[in-house]
Amino acid sequence: MKTLREYFLQAKTEKWAVGHFNFSTADQLKAIVEAAKELNSPVMVATSEGEAKFIGREQAVALVKSYQQEGHVVFLNADHHKTEERAKQAIDAGYDTVLIDASKMSFEENIMTTKIVVDYAKEKGGLMVEGELGYLKGESQMQGTVEISPADFTKPEEAKEFVERTGVDRLAIVFGNIHGIVTQQEEKLTMPVLQAVVFAIPNVFFVLHGASGLPDEQIKEAIANGITNVHINTELRVAYHDALEAELQKEPDQTTPYKFLAPSFEAMKELVKKKLELFGSVGKI
Ligand code: G3H
Ligand code: ZN
Repeated sequence: MKTLREYFLQAKTEKWAVGHFNFSTADQLKAIVEAAKELNSPVMVATSEGEAKFIGREQAVALVKSYQQEGHVVFLNADHHKTEERAKQAIDAGYDTVLIDASKMSFEENIMTTKIVVDYAKEKGGLMVEGELGYLKGESQMQGTVEISPADFTKPEEAKEFVERTGVDRLAIVFGNIHGIVTQQEEKLTMPVLQAVVFAIPNVFFVLHGASGLPDEQIKEAIANGITNVHINTELRVAYHDALEAELQKEPDQTTPYKFLAPSFEAMKELVKKKLELFGSVGKI
């Protein structure tokens, strides 16, 4: 099996993106893995700190390893781990890669914290580390509006310094993206900001967080402009939830989880397939 780094290099050269999908239950993970398998696509799966707490950190690792042993091309990311301690715990538990998200700290503290995790990852065998710079607003849920300000966008010069001083492999950037879906506002990426950041730093992989709710065309344009990793969470949560709600209404007496969860599983799997097609990773294994 190729390494995650090799897939990123391939994605960068060929201008496609690795899909990154969050899960907090075993059936959600299975839906993502099956979708990727059917399309011959490499895939990243992830747990945030909250998701990891729910499914169990060690259990998430064991589940993903079991798929890897069966030959599935799936990599587990510790998504938005906010402290050095928790990022290190994820590395120790066996995650394939980690996002140390110290973006709410000052620039200097963000660099220091991220660098500690990069050094730790090197000691532990050199797994890929992602850092985050810029203020990414919103939560992975439905929201009315989220105020977006250019002041929160990633600045090319700072990003360059951040990458040089930390040595991160991937950089999560902010250029109009937000976490979650907004119902009373249009989500819109600012491509010139992405272009300026990409131009400033040749040796890093760029990550688009908060891709739920963005029009397909914008995601495609972002990939064409240098994004090689796209994160989706809210759309999956909504698909899973809505299918479950409809099923419980349709079959109120059904109490067997593998029966009433089947439509949620299928809805999530279909959505992941659609996204993998959009990201251009189909057939890349
Ligand atoms: O790290 C996770 C993602 O950035 C998810 O964002 O909920 O807007 O899809 P989203
Ligand atoms: Zn994110």
